[in-house]
Amino acid sequence: MKNVLVVGAGTMGHGIAEVCALAGYNVTIVDINENILANAVARITWSLKKLEEKKKIKSADEVLQRIETSQNLEEVASKADFVIEAVIEKTEVKHEVFKTLDEKCKEECILSTNTSTIPITDIAKATKREDKVVGLHFFNPPTLIRLVEIIKGEKTSDETVNATKKFAESIGMDYVMVEKDVPGFLINRINIRVFVEAIRLLENFKPEEIDSAIRYRAGLPMGIFEVVDFTGVDTVYNVLKEVNKRGFNVEMPPILEKMVEENALGMKTGKGFYTYKSFYDRAKIPKKYAYNVNPLQILAPGINEAAWLLRNGIATKEDIDKATVKGMAYPKGILRFADSYGIGKVVDILKSRKSKTKLEEYVPDPLLEEMQKEGKLGKKSGEGFYKYNFERIDFGPVRYEKRHDYALITMRRPEKLNALNEEMWVGLNQAFKRAEDDEDVRVAILAAEGRAFCAGDDIAVMGSWKDLKDGTDFFEKIALPLVNTLAYYEKPLISLVNGNAFGGGMELNLFFDVVIASEKATFSVPEGLIGAMPPIASSFGYMLFGRKIARYLLTGEIMDAEEAKELGVVDLIVPHEMLEEVAIEFVDKISLLAPLSARAIKRSINAVRDSIKTSMDIAAREIELLIPTKDFAEGMRAFVSKRRPEWSGR
Ligand code: NAI
Repeated sequence: MKNVLVVGAGTMGHGIAEVCALAGYNVTIVDINENILANAVARITWSLKKLEEKKKIKSADEVLQRIETSQNLEEVASKADFVIEAVIEKTEVKHEVFKTLDEKCKEECILSTNTSTIPITDIAKATKREDKVVGLHFFNPPTLIRLVEIIKGEKTSDETVNATKKFAESIGMDYVMVEKDVPGFLINRINIRVFVEAIRLLENFKPEEIDSAIRYRAGLPMGIFEVVDFTGVDTVYNVLKEVNKRGFNVEMPPILEKMVEENALGMKTGKGFYTYKSFYDRAKIPKKYAYNVNPLQILAPGINEAAWLLRNGIATKEDIDKATVKGMAYPKGILRFADSYGIGKVVDILKSRKSKTKLEEYVPDPLLEEMQKEGKLGKKSGEGFYKYNFERIDFGPVRYEKRHDYALITMRRPEKLNALNEEMWVGLNQAFKRAEDDEDVRVAILAAEGRAFCAGDDIAVMGSWKDLKDGTDFFEKIALPLVNTLAYYEKPLISLVNGNAFGGGMELNLFFDVVIASEKATFSVPEGLIGAMPPIASSFGYMLFGRKIARYLLTGEIMDAEEAKELGVVDLIVPHEMLEEVAIEFVDKISLLAPLSARAIKRSINAVRDSIKTSMDIAAREIELLIPTKDFAEGMRAFVSKRRPEWSGR
């Protein structure tokens, strides 16, 4: 195969021609419009010169020599070994072109089409070689997006598909297979769902808020509205209208129609969802909005569509994920996203959108429903679309779950506000040690069941101490091992504070690298009010926050999440129901680091901690010395009977 014929020299045609010529093919570009042809050659020349300057190719001229143009399809068609049609998206024009191609091209020549919305089967009908007509769908710009969809029409033969795969590879393109000729094929179907959802969410959010969540949390390089403005609001509108006409169930968002009417077409008209001062201007997407919208909310309809494609045998899960990564620049496949966030959450979001909008398009795909029923929830159960390493162990009231690359450690004593009794201290230590010893686990997350995070030391236990020895034994044998484990932990630690974090419950957070709090979280170190003292916050906490913490140590005053953030205990405040998702996103971010780098960072942090070990030892001693005092006993009694203690100073 030597000669490639590209019909249509517009946006796509000229890029496709360049890709083919770069791969060594002789390329003929045909267009009916002379200016467009000249323009195409100028654009290719400019692009090749850039590659030459960057030393990516030896000689632009050498590549250019392989490209010729023509306005006469009939004349040039007979030399072609492979045809890629990229003319205007009009059925009658495509039919006419394919009729000519069929008449003039060699018998064995494959005729491929770059159509986005017209069925391959329909285009093939214009020819007498329906088995040799195939969809070969590129993305804009083909020189950068090195992925194509290969779409089988009803009559496309396996031979044609195989030869097309080989051809795609020969021009340096990776490919995904679309086994059935469905409207929108693979990528556009998923994209449309996500775009439309983002547009519908504009009822409650600004474009910047949605794009901020997508960029800074889901990790896509561009926000949804940035992409739509770049692609052209009219292009998206047209694709949507066409696929809808052909049976793809999606309700057109009225905003999109209005924008097309008003010529707000995106970057090319200076105004779309954002405004642009020049063509190279980029929208400003402030990071501070990232936690206003849940990115899963935006992705869920796309995941639902992916499930539909999979269930109907249109694409494999590997190809769906390859398409989202290579064709749509997602940092990981959309099915991987689903598995990370959890299939249950996806289904819940879809159901709630269905009940709010009454739109059928939100009905969860039977595949998702079935997965939920079978407990295939993704990473959190060991299997979703993919299989994961999973382990669940209960260490007393502490549940340990290894979810492939992170561990979720949950305090489960909600009826006692997750207070730290002996089983809780010991269970936490066992769970964190297990996570540290498991090579797969990159990050350990602490979470809590129920309304409270952790009410601190169990007062019932403390009240039962008869003398100094009871107390010191408890501290040294039960509490200290966990404190030491956390203080010298060599893997990143994330804590999810869902509610009250009091006393020891707040102090544990000081050892965590990222503390994510719900807006309902509150913090305090009120030990002084019951005749004890907070040893970690008074020593280690003082090192972290300086004298700002003294006020809270000395009054036991409760801080809300905002205050705790100002003090520095909390890193992020997020909506209550988003806590777990945000932690999962952090796991993904941390997992990008080399494991040894993360360990080196943690070791260095731990060394700083070690440098104040003396103050921590002194603080531990101080609390031990309080145990045999009268006031300690009075504090415990007063707490239990809910009265104000009467201090004797002894
Ligand atoms: P375009 O409008 O930029 O180019 C179409 C070209 O076809 C024009 O230069 C026109 O003069 C030429 N043409 C019209 N009738 C012709 C004929 N009978 N013979 C030869 N040339 C003829 O359109 P664009 O965007 O390049 O789209 C081309 C095809 O690629 C369409 O099928 C479209 O759906 C598809 N596509 C477009 C993408 C995009 O992002 N623009 C992405 C993927 C596919």
